[in-house]
Amino acid sequence: MRILFIGDVIGKPGRDVVAAELPHLKESLGLDFVVLNGENAAHGFGITRAIASEFFAMGVDCITTGNHWADQKEILSFINDEDRILRPRNFPPQTPGRGANLFQTRSGERILVINAMGRVFMDPLDDPFASVDAELNACPLREAADAILIDMHAEATSEKMAMGHFCDGRATAVVGTHQHVPTADAQILPGGTAYQSDAGACADYDSVIGMDKFQPVQRFLTKLSTGRFSPATGPATLCAIFIESDARGLASRIEPVRVGGRLKETLPVVQAGGKLRQP
Ligand SMILES: [Fe+2]
Ligand SMILES: [Fe+2]
Repeated sequence: MRILFIGDVIGKPGRDVVAAELPHLKESLGLDFVVLNGENAAHGFGITRAIASEFFAMGVDCITTGNHWADQKEILSFINDEDRILRPRNFPPQTPGRGANLFQTRSGERILVINAMGRVFMDPLDDPFASVDAELNACPLREAADAILIDMHAEATSEKMAMGHFCDGRATAVVGTHQHVPTADAQILPGGTAYQSDAGACADYDSVIGMDKFQPVQRFLTKLSTGRFSPATGPATLCAIFIESDARGLASRIEPVRVGGRLKETLPVVQAGGKLRQP
């Protein structure tokens, strides 16, 4: 199975680069399933029904989120009926929405997507490790799912790496989000799980983690939170992670994807006939 995981989409520049690049990435990489983190899609804060519909129309199959999942209050009116949008699984059990769901790809394969959130330097939540463990036990790889992807939305790289090793051999991929900068540690862990600490964002990188740089710099200079943050408006880079799984549901390949905007482009090399060249 070929999966593309797209990092946090920041406002309109992020949505525009996804709209511009996703259709031909789907085609050239032969994607079976596309997951996108949409927690910052609505002007940097949360996601609306209209924006989610745009993503689905572009070919996104599942939208994960994070600490900003409910910034747009309208999501509370539809998240219980929209099972393609996930919020972190380890919110208290009474929270609307769901943190995991089993999907079917166009070719009929089953993929479980789990969204979890870290607790280091973040709001206190239930234990993300116990939460992910419960989902993996309820829907084991190979028996109940042909692939399993976990979006670990966290501030601390250590917590994300620990989640990668905790799931190694039981999931196809553990990918990190929330930091908005892609990390250079894409690898397949010893047990066969693909891992990258942060997918990066779909954002203008002439910014402070996707936001117009003026207000964040002022906030560091003065320690006053006066001005509002809004997304930087220059051309965005699409940051994503390409993962291919084998017959065991484990990863045979992981490669970063960066296209558009200021960051240096990197793409899996596709040969004639749709075959991917081994890195
Ligand atoms: Fe984010
Ligand atoms: Fe976040």
